[in-house]
Amino acid sequence: MTIERKNPQEDRILVLDFGSQYTQLIARRIREIGVYCEIRRYDVCLEQVISFAPRGIILSGGPETVTDSAPPRPDIGIYALGVPLLGVCYGMQVMAHQLGGQVSISEKREFGLAKISPHSGQEWLGNTTGLSSRKQEELDVWMSHSDKVMELPAGFDVAASSANAPMAAIVDHNRHFFGLQFHPEVTHTSNGASILEHFLVEVCKCSQSWISPNVTKDLINKIKEQVCDDKVLLGLSGGVDSAVVAGLLHQAIGDQLTCIFVDNGLLRLNESAAVMEIFQNNVGIDVRQVNAEDRFLSELVGVSDPEEKRKIIGRVFIEVFQDEASKIRDIKWLAQGTIYPDIIESAGHAHSSARVIKSHHNVGGLPASLNLKLLEPLSELFKDEVRLIGRHLGMPRELVYRHPFPGPGLGVRILGEVRKEYAEILRRVDHIFLDELRRQNLYDKVSQAFAVFLPIKSVGVVGDNRAYNHVVVLRAVETTDFMTADWKQLPYEFLAHVSTRIINEVSDVGRVTYDISSKPPATIEWE
Ligand code: XMP
Repeated sequence: MTIERKNPQEDRILVLDFGSQYTQLIARRIREIGVYCEIRRYDVCLEQVISFAPRGIILSGGPETVTDSAPPRPDIGIYALGVPLLGVCYGMQVMAHQLGGQVSISEKREFGLAKISPHSGQEWLGNTTGLSSRKQEELDVWMSHSDKVMELPAGFDVAASSANAPMAAIVDHNRHFFGLQFHPEVTHTSNGASILEHFLVEVCKCSQSWISPNVTKDLINKIKEQVCDDKVLLGLSGGVDSAVVAGLLHQAIGDQLTCIFVDNGLLRLNESAAVMEIFQNNVGIDVRQVNAEDRFLSELVGVSDPEEKRKIIGRVFIEVFQDEASKIRDIKWLAQGTIYPDIIESAGHAHSSARVIKSHHNVGGLPASLNLKLLEPLSELFKDEVRLIGRHLGMPRELVYRHPFPGPGLGVRILGEVRKEYAEILRRVDHIFLDELRRQNLYDKVSQAFAVFLPIKSVGVVGDNRAYNHVVVLRAVETTDFMTADWKQLPYEFLAHVSTRIINEVSDVGRVTYDISSKPPATIEWE
């Protein structure tokens, strides 16, 4: 069977997911190179592969071993489609195994940075000009495997070796099949991006046209076609995703859009005023603001269990949203800011075989109870792409590049019972921290920063008197995917300045601490 490409302009790559935590990262890297791709489970049927009409297929890594009796395998038909293939780690092993090579369990597990030596004539593994003059130069790569290919399948050559893996990269130039024992998608692999780019552009002949302003226009046109003259409802959260959906819908359907913005009393300082200012006053969108602080806070009285708090906040949100929605007539669609990682991460989704770490996103919830058709214009996009679309739409940089904020808001940042006075203290502390990050040009250098309120008091001394005051925590992390994160090493002088401001300006706080835990084992939020 071969692929008939209906539209030669549709350059896309299929990523088959064998369960690696890095699969999303592969997809993001491909999109960053300017090529559209989608992820499917490794066992997607051949007909679906053919109808997707990929220009190339990438087999991801995964936690399994092909030496098992029934290892996860793609349909063997993918090797006969005449489409270039790139196998990464497990993906390379399963390709080698299915094509008649031999894979065995290595005595020595290789994890972390390693050096590989590309063989001569294998310029695709590095900077071509650099390598042709210095062929045997070693390259830094990121390894994470215990199996390795020991015997090549017919038609393949070894392209690079490392001390532990004599076949660290393999290639069949005739069939355009490539295998990498290491992970090109991880930034520690120094030539990773250029190896991927070579595969996508030189081998698969993809044009790098993804996410140009045309993509924004296409999204707007698609919304127009889908919605026609119907009315659409959107819940604005103040976050990036729903903001960009609002911008897209406004351009596509103008005043057929109505937004509901629920102030749950657990938002950041001045958040609701800012949302109304941007969307209603500046852009002219019909935004119905609901002040539901009392309703949320009264339901949270006496509740300190984090999961219970999340459930209550989620339930009350739906109730308030529904009450407000019922006042608006003739609505046919509910728009949501669901993005691609929400879809990949939600449990049991057919696109993914990755082990679910945490599932707390927009998928599910509102639609069924409202009985509206669901409109999710960003559901094929990664966060960075959503931001670019926001910029194409002319939305302000501060809005588009703001840090993520969890749905339950300060409710999961006030540990234990949520009280109005705690929320007020936390809002002021959080505001000082973020304000200083912005002033000192550090905001864009961290992925997420916020303050946490602890339900304890600590002794201090103010003037000549003993004080007994609240304790707050500052948290700032660096991450690319929010699934793992490093705590940010902010300068001591900066932390000292923020601490002094907080203690001076928020009189109920007596102690400021800084969280130096990475994820895992800690999560980003405290609850
Ligand atoms: P964790 O705490 O799981 O957070 O390391 C990872 C990212 O997800 C955000 N987060 C949430 N977002 N609803 C959301 O919309 C939630 O319930 C929720 N919990 C965590 C968190 O802020 C971080 O960016």
